[in-house]
Amino acid sequence: MSSTSFTPARLLIFGATGAIGKFITEEILAARPAFRHVTIFTSANTATSKKELLARWKAVGMPVSVFVGDVNSEEDVKRAYQTEAPDTVISALGRGALTIQTKLVELAAQAESVKWLFPSEYGTDIEHNAKSPNEKPHQHKLALRKYIRENIHPEQLHITYLVTGPYFDMWVHAASPLLGGFDPSTKTASLIGDGNGKVGFCTMPDVGKFLVAALRHPAESFDKALKVQSFVVTPNQVLDEYEKQTGGDKWSITYVPLADLKAAEAKAWQETPGSATGFTLRRIWAEGGTLYDKNDNELIGVGPGETEDLSYAVAKALKQH
Ligand SMILES: NC(=O)c1ccc[n+]([C@@H]2O[C@H](COP(=O)([O-])OP(=O)(O)OC[C@H]3O[C@@H](n4cnc5c(N)ncnc54)[C@H](OP(=O)(O)O)[C@@H]3O)[C@@H](O)[C@H]2O)c1
Repeated sequence: MSSTSFTPARLLIFGATGAIGKFITEEILAARPAFRHVTIFTSANTATSKKELLARWKAVGMPVSVFVGDVNSEEDVKRAYQTEAPDTVISALGRGALTIQTKLVELAAQAESVKWLFPSEYGTDIEHNAKSPNEKPHQHKLALRKYIRENIHPEQLHITYLVTGPYFDMWVHAASPLLGGFDPSTKTASLIGDGNGKVGFCTMPDVGKFLVAALRHPAESFDKALKVQSFVVTPNQVLDEYEKQTGGDKWSITYVPLADLKAAEAKAWQETPGSATGFTLRRIWAEGGTLYDKNDNELIGVGPGETEDLSYAVAKALKQH
């Protein structure tokens, strides 16, 4: 397939109603010109528990169908790849389902209609530096990239990894003070290191916008890890913005030495591995793991001023608090 002759029109989304899938799906459904058809593959449980959301999406005007199936079932996935003949598959499956994607990719490469697939990434650059191959949270995504490199030819199936860095909307609300975070109700914040280390963020709506931008630029996006960012700022700049938008008073700040975060990370992997991923990712972000010489925003047609900015993102976080 020549990359210049392909325009995605018929989309199939896995994990559409999940934390980031929701933003991706909303942007896809709002995209104009509209895509010809969107299929949402979802579990029976979600089809029931999120039926209002699914009904709203079916009513937006773009042809939307809901395919209820089990993502672990080869038969269900094969049927989804045949029904409505999708040309592009977008996975936004959660961390618990990442290993399933090897099968999704294998079956997509065999499916006649499917030409392009976005694995579930939407996060940290898992091939950033020499330490990246050893980071525990990266392992399933790295294994999928290896499988794709070794088994999938672009003539069968194009792949795009959308690498977004941390979601600003989540990053400001950390689960533990050791992770860094902002609490407007007490005007307190905890910052990793001296708060001057830059971090490249995406807001969650922008993840959806970048995904649609990639869909509009197949030739530029095929077979790449696209690194996209809403803005790059330091935690101290985020703090300044919070202080400005909450009346100008100085907040009370705790600085968490990177060594303390690392110690908490090691302890979490030993004692509560279920919560450890958050510590590792925060450490990677604080160590500069989201910084690049150049991002790919403009490659897919997203210019300066077309993403949410820090001031808007903080205003939104304050409203949602
Ligand atoms: N950059 C960041 O700050 C950040 C933060 C969070 C996540 N992420 C990344 O974003 C991607 C999506 O994560 P998420 O948190 O948005 O996902 P999520 O909400 O946990 O899950 C998304 C969907 O995946 C399906 N699913 C989840 N677990 C499953 C399982 N064990 N078996 C089968 N299906 C399962 C469910 O869909 P159905 O029931 O509809 O089938 C679910 O709604 C991941 O790659 C994750 O690493 C990035």
